[in-house]
Amino acid sequence: MPKTCEKVYITTPIYYVNDVPHIGHAYTTIIADTLARYSRLKGHDTFFLTGTDEHGQKIEEAAKKRGKSTQAYADEISGKFHTLWDNFDISYDKFIRTTDEEHKKGVQKAFEVMYQKGDIYKDAYEGFYCVSCETFFTQTQLLEDECCPDCGRQTSLVKEESYFFRLSNYEDKLLDWYANNENCVLPKGKKNEVINFVKQGLHDLSITRTSFDWGVKLPKSLNDPKHVMYVWLDALMNYITALGYGNDAKNMAYWNNCTHLVGKDILRFHAIYWPAFLMSLDLPMPKHIAAHGWWTRNGEKMSKSKGNVVNPKEVADAYGLENFRYFMLREVPFGQDGDFSQKALIDRINSDLGNDLGNLMNRIIGMSSKYSNLVIDSTHVPTYHDKELKEAEQILENIESYIYEMQPNRYLETLWKVLTIANQSIATHEPWVKMKEGKTEEAMALVALVANLLAKVTILLSPVMPKTCDKIAAAMHFKIDTPHYQKLYHDKVLLETFTIEKLPALFPRIEEEVIPAKEPVEPAPKKEEKKKVSTDGIITIDQFFETKLKIGTILSAQEVKKSDRLLQLTVDLAEEEPRQIIAGIKEYYAPADLIGTQVCVVSNLKPAKIMGLLSQGMLLAAKDKDGLSLMRPEAPKRSGTPVG
Ligand code: MSP
Repeated sequence: MPKTCEKVYITTPIYYVNDVPHIGHAYTTIIADTLARYSRLKGHDTFFLTGTDEHGQKIEEAAKKRGKSTQAYADEISGKFHTLWDNFDISYDKFIRTTDEEHKKGVQKAFEVMYQKGDIYKDAYEGFYCVSCETFFTQTQLLEDECCPDCGRQTSLVKEESYFFRLSNYEDKLLDWYANNENCVLPKGKKNEVINFVKQGLHDLSITRTSFDWGVKLPKSLNDPKHVMYVWLDALMNYITALGYGNDAKNMAYWNNCTHLVGKDILRFHAIYWPAFLMSLDLPMPKHIAAHGWWTRNGEKMSKSKGNVVNPKEVADAYGLENFRYFMLREVPFGQDGDFSQKALIDRINSDLGNDLGNLMNRIIGMSSKYSNLVIDSTHVPTYHDKELKEAEQILENIESYIYEMQPNRYLETLWKVLTIANQSIATHEPWVKMKEGKTEEAMALVALVANLLAKVTILLSPVMPKTCDKIAAAMHFKIDTPHYQKLYHDKVLLETFTIEKLPALFPRIEEEVIPAKEPVEPAPKKEEKKKVSTDGIITIDQFFETKLKIGTILSAQEVKKSDRLLQLTVDLAEEEPRQIIAGIKEYYAPADLIGTQVCVVSNLKPAKIMGLLSQGMLLAAKDKDGLSLMRPEAPKRSGTPVG
């Protein structure tokens, strides 16, 4: 979102309708909503898109399982997303469904354009397909028993006629695009992973299927009715069909300034396939593709069978929607994984929101009610509090960069620094003492200082907590709008003389967890099934093979700040995503020397947090008095090759 641009386009991924919404979906949508609201506050003409992804084998099978027609099933689940976003005050301008006729027409048009350009050709496909991930794999990418390297489910061998997109032609163009557009993929660490992936070589992409029906047909001009489009081609096109591509293209002007919010699991589709399709269509590239991390429960992926899926509606109902929005954005640095717990949410509500923000409002009301009959006059603030005003001004000077660099947690942290100045200035200046000493003007100036700082914070917090901020603004009689947004940067003092209204506590303290713990769905292993540990230290071959060792290639390495021992590595195991591994090898290896080298990884170790960073595996190494050596294959092996 460049600061000068008038039209801004923000998108969420479109959600599969094979399952009901969960906390991960809510996270992407809430971040995107915050960006859209911020952009509108700034005065930009903003178009915010969300919707549902309804085609593909996975949806067809999910409907069949429930004995419903695919369309009826898609309508039902799409409706659930629609309702949830309405309940969550998501300020979308359009909710697209890939079953919309206009969308289908737009996709067919795009297919035709790419075909005529010579970027699509017909051939035969032979390979493995994971229905759950809607992704093609080659044999070497699979786990044992032909299981999907991403989700572990069984893949099926697909042999069928298919149209292919010449992705391999776009390798160099993509690398140029990454090189010339610093922030095209965010965060930067993820961008490096994408670049390394492309550098390993791109294969042409199978983009049609013949073995099922539930998809967009090819354009009539191709006269090939047995094919339907690959669901990812269909889905990615939603970003332009929603603006009218292939139909009435009246909103295409938004396309020049687009930010896509996605989860890290679908970054490859967005940062490689999608830009290549756009190049083929001669359309401009997105400005940013920003990938966030995953929400986990106790370090584990959420899944229905584990019974650990967090229902966003349940959390919002229990703790307040806007408290939940604040928590999600503040708790986890963008791009990293975050663990959901009610305790962490309660801490944020009681501490950041209750103590720092709500209490400040109460104190302003309390003091102004005692000293000045609820009237607050800002006239003398610059006389007595130039220092605090300047400090706040400096803090806010660069806060916007955190929005553009997609760091909502830093943005909120920075806003809270202004609240700290406000809270501390009350303690430092003790207005109650001033009142006793008869220094009424000084005491009132302090109250007005604090009210002005709170007003600035309120405006900037409003994209995250719109209704709460509206309440505060209404009580202080100012408006949250573009003129006030601009004024807050230019004028040290935002408010004039006004009467503050009394408000009930904004964030009542929460003493205990509101949502009762659920029983795990997966039965606990029976006693006799538990592994016996032998007393002589001998293990069976089966026990040995419980440890899954694999060859990994190190893609990036950097030092972990404030640690003498640790390096933060990304290691390719031929899974959809490279893994992050935190290894205690800093004393023995320089990060630059590790990049591109191979290691042996314990790949089924339970993920753990080390110095706040998620570690998804362990490297094998031998250490003696002469130092430490990583265990490496004698000759290069493909990433992901099993060891044993
Ligand atoms: N339909 C595709 C997207 C097509 S976009 C052209 C899809 N849908 S999804 O419903 O499976 O996922 C949508 C989004 O939810 C993704 O961004 C994904 O990363 C996010 N999340 C799903 N589970 C998640 C967590 N547990 N945590 C955070 N976000 C995760 O992929």
